[in-house]
Amino acid sequence: MHLIIILVVFGTLYGTIKAENVKELQAKLDTLDKENAELKAEQEKLQHQVDEYDKKQKEIADLEKELDVCQPSSRADAASAQNGNATMNSVVLPKFFNKNRKKFRTAEGRRHLVNCLINLSTPSRYSCVPYMHFTGAQAITMPGEDPIYVRCDGQTAGSGWLIIQRRVYGTEDFYRPWEEYRRGFGKMLEDSFLGLENIYKLTNYQRFELFVKTVSFAGKVNWARYSDFLIGSEDESYVLKSVGEFSGTEDVLSRNVNSKFSTYDRESSPRNLSQKYHGGYWYIENGLQSSNPNGKYLKHPYHYSYGMHWATTESEKSVKMMIRPVLG
Ligand SMILES: *[C@@H]1O[C@H](CO)[C@@H](O)[C@H](O)[C@H]1NC(C)=O
Ligand SMILES: *[C@@H]1O[C@H](CO)[C@@H](O)[C@H](O)[C@H]1NC(C)=O
Ligand SMILES: *[C@@H]1O[C@H](CO)[C@@H](O)[C@H](O)[C@H]1NC(C)=O
Repeated sequence: MHLIIILVVFGTLYGTIKAENVKELQAKLDTLDKENAELKAEQEKLQHQVDEYDKKQKEIADLEKELDVCQPSSRADAASAQNGNATMNSVVLPKFFNKNRKKFRTAEGRRHLVNCLINLSTPSRYSCVPYMHFTGAQAITMPGEDPIYVRCDGQTAGSGWLIIQRRVYGTEDFYRPWEEYRRGFGKMLEDSFLGLENIYKLTNYQRFELFVKTVSFAGKVNWARYSDFLIGSEDESYVLKSVGEFSGTEDVLSRNVNSKFSTYDRESSPRNLSQKYHGGYWYIENGLQSSNPNGKYLKHPYHYSYGMHWATTESEKSVKMMIRPVLG
């Protein structure tokens, strides 16, 4: 009897508990199902985002590969980013925009393209090219260097030339020690020398042409243009590595290629050519000095080998040497 009662009570209790549990569990299951559906949707959304992200990463990777050409770290790269005397604006830019139109749609793409453009236009920034027909002082800052102040010449031989040596007034003494030739000297508005270290950095960063203009006391103008002017480092005694192709009235500089720079306190030759010719220059070890643009300023057309001369030994009234980037 007792057992029956206990069983009935227990059974009833058990049934009640079970029914309640099932209801509760059902509710829980429903919630879980709902949550699961939400999670699934969330997961799908995330997956989509991951896919998008991967796609973008791939786009960026492709872009970066393409933009490797944007680093003008060598003379050749820099030159290929240039187009002769055509400016970035007229030739390179439209092509660049056309080629990369799609990439401007993503923020990453835009950022890279802008950096790339800055890099592409960098070579001409380290020169007087951006100043075109302007003649006067400008500051130029090479990557990772202090600004250098240069004189641009936009009139003598077209636009965008950078003066590395000028002797028009005859007021500056060019018989100077190594350190001064290394650093540069003179006055921006009068006669000056840019400095071998600057010339070395510029010509090794990108390809430059050289233009030399001389005027005799009788008013005769000589000019010489060289397509690839390049000098070595100080450790190489700023050797004249190349001048390239010549055009002009008379080629007197090609024979100086491979000559080291000399000053009276650092002669490259036991013959003390800097002292002999009274200047700092890439003197030819054996043979005639057919040019001596940093020689003594003589004020008259004398024929002294130590005088400032070019092509003939007759001293010149003025000499100007300028550089400008060119297509490699
Ligand atoms: C520079 O441009 C001018 C005019 O656009 C052209 O006549 C001249 O030949 C060009 N010079 C060089 C070296 O490309
Ligand atoms: C631009 O040049 C800098 C310095 O050389 C380099 O770090 C950077 O990656 C270049 N950017 C592009 C987009 O090529
Ligand atoms: C060159 O100059 C050095 C130092 O001034 C001197 O000792 C030497 O004798 C000179 N050599 C010649 C050939 O003049």
